[in-house]
Amino acid sequence: SLDDRVVVAVDGPAGSGKSSVSKAVARKLGYAYLDTGAAYRAFAWHAQRADVELEDAASVASALPTFALAEATDPDDFFVRVGEHDVTEAIRGPSVTGVVSLVARVPEVRAALTAIFRRLAAETAQPGIVIEGRDITTAVAPDAPVRVLLTASEEVRMGRRSAELTGHSPEVVGEQLKARDRADSRVVDFMTAADGVTTVDSTELNFDETVDAVIAVIESRIHSR
Ligand code: DC
Repeated sequence: SLDDRVVVAVDGPAGSGKSSVSKAVARKLGYAYLDTGAAYRAFAWHAQRADVELEDAASVASALPTFALAEATDPDDFFVRVGEHDVTEAIRGPSVTGVVSLVARVPEVRAALTAIFRRLAAETAQPGIVIEGRDITTAVAPDAPVRVLLTASEEVRMGRRSAELTGHSPEVVGEQLKARDRADSRVVDFMTAADGVTTVDSTELNFDETVDAVIAVIESRIHSR
């Protein structure tokens, strides 16, 4: 069961470094890693192909029974498949990114994916798992022994995103990031730390320092158990 493993729940906005930091933390500790945003993206990819009406919640939910997700939890061998399609790359594209908020707001979708995340976490062989997303500390694993909100100033987040997306102007990247934050925050509040959640603000930290800060939170939580 989930209680036999150390669950590290990490939430945060786009561009906070959440995915790369969570992956590095998992690697260092020999834990599994679960990117829940990738599953929402995979479902958006599936919904687009299933030809549903993306603005209509009931229509979006109708694509759930045919959603066959396979997502790796190995930080060193990450892949996402839907049926026989490897969508690891496709789900990062602008087409999926543009519609993922529309499917993520549908309650049936959230319930179904949450059930998948809990099952994947319970099935991992590693002693712990880092689960990252938007509602992990509040909805997916609210009882996790370690819960972290990873934040950074908007300016720093935009800077990191435009460094990742070469070929896009900082203005365009900034507008996209803000638009997605707005859409996403209508679904879950990932900007405020819930009770018992430790905020790690990476505005003034480099990548390695951020990883170490999260590991320090994990160590202090585990030792105080
Ligand atoms: O972290 P990301 O950009 O890959 O997330 C993709 C989308 O999925 C984003 O619009 C927010 C949504 N999401 C969510 O609603 N709940 C999660 N636990 C993770 C992601």
